[in-house]
Amino acid sequence: MNISVIGTGYVGLVTGTCLAEIGHQVVCLDIDERKIEGLINGVIPIYEPQLKELVIKNQQAGRLSFTTSYPEAMKNSTAVFIAVGTPARSDGHADLSYVFQVAESIAKELKDYKVIVDKSTVPVGTGEKVKSIIQKHYSGSFDVVSCPEFLREGSAIDDFMKPDRIVIGAQSKRAVDVLLDIFKPIETEKLVTNLASAELIKYASNAFLATKISFINEVSNICDLVGADVEEVAYGMGLDKRIGSNFLRAGVGYGGSCFPKDVSALKQMAGHNGYDFKLLKAVIEVNNDQRAVVLKKAKQAGESLEGKNIGILGLAFKDNTDDVRESAAIDIINLLQKEKVQIIAYDPIATENAKKIIPGIKFADSAYAACHNQDLVIIATEWPEFRELDWQKIKAKMRTPWVVDGRNILDQNEMREMGFQYLSIGR
Ligand SMILES: NC(=O)c1ccc[n+]([C@@H]2O[C@H](COP(=O)([O-])OP(=O)(O)OC[C@H]3O[C@@H](n4cnc5c(N)ncnc54)[C@H](O)[C@@H]3O)[C@@H](O)[C@H]2O)c1
Repeated sequence: MNISVIGTGYVGLVTGTCLAEIGHQVVCLDIDERKIEGLINGVIPIYEPQLKELVIKNQQAGRLSFTTSYPEAMKNSTAVFIAVGTPARSDGHADLSYVFQVAESIAKELKDYKVIVDKSTVPVGTGEKVKSIIQKHYSGSFDVVSCPEFLREGSAIDDFMKPDRIVIGAQSKRAVDVLLDIFKPIETEKLVTNLASAELIKYASNAFLATKISFINEVSNICDLVGADVEEVAYGMGLDKRIGSNFLRAGVGYGGSCFPKDVSALKQMAGHNGYDFKLLKAVIEVNNDQRAVVLKKAKQAGESLEGKNIGILGLAFKDNTDDVRESAAIDIINLLQKEKVQIIAYDPIATENAKKIIPGIKFADSAYAACHNQDLVIIATEWPEFRELDWQKIKAKMRTPWVVDGRNILDQNEMREMGFQYLSIGR
């Protein structure tokens, strides 16, 4: 099928590439000319495992192309996927201006029946608004479908190709059939719902996962007070199939471009409809406080942090991505900067993105360099390579051997046997 994908960020580029990989003819469009020029020349604007190989493979096979021109992207397409950003506004509501701009641009190019598929995460009612924007410019038939995306950065290709479910929120059988045809090669449950339910499934899923994280972080804080070990508690809880072990890892709290904004948008959406979603207020508060828990542990390394040299391992909001949006590491650095410390940070992939948003700190080329001559090292992202470091070697180069492991990735007994003053979360 001929498909266009509007927006070539984390979701749009992965969606377009994977749709080409399963056999469709895909044109990806972005308004960012440099991004598109790069993509045409095989330069991938984000770090995502397997993505570069798949983009180049499908470009060479003639199934995937890139453009900044709406007429070119849309001329042959049966389905048009919207995958632009929906960041949080300052009041917590989702900013839908990009989605609505795209709807206008699509509307001006519509000449025959197409299915407009919303992959961006949007509040309930957005599909209807997109429909009315299009109707202002085009009187022919078309459908708007909500098909929310559940991929995780760092494993986006696998998540797209082997999803737990595909949700199709639609108002007509014709549109459902187009979507079922598009996703035919992907084996998973395809859940057909109305537009509103599909839009809400995405927010409710992310809010639930964020709730699990805040829950275990609260438990970890109790563990610190009563001498329990949150790893053991979480493992014991997760053995119960009704609970499950996923998303029960205590740490610095959730971050990234989705959870914070989606939890806040669902809370705002509820409020807007006259419902007070009390639970989500607590989820957000616990998550914000968790950054301060790391700072409090850092302060245990000395009476005051002032003048201390601190190494930060990790800047990305999670491992395997270069995305630093709403990263806990960045929040922790911002808190530390108020304490008048000197910071050197290292991340395997995300340093360039971090440099754009945190002034006043230094960046190292390796984890070892970030730990050299430090009074304290804080692990802020769960990169597996931090587990593999030669911590004996690091200890020999530190001024004082304090480590705060904000992700609980190191073996606490081994670290203490090596002579580290080692603090982690809830254990
Ligand atoms: N990143 C994730 O892990 C993830 C996962 C699931 C769902 N989502 C949702 O998917 C949506 C996209 O997220 P993202 O992380 O890919 O965003 P992103 O910021 O990485 O990419 C958005 C892209 O859209 C482009 N764009 C903006 N306005 C445009 C326009 N008028 N026409 C064409 N292109 C335009 C931008 O230039 C940018 O390249 C969001 O709603 C997000 O919540 C994201």
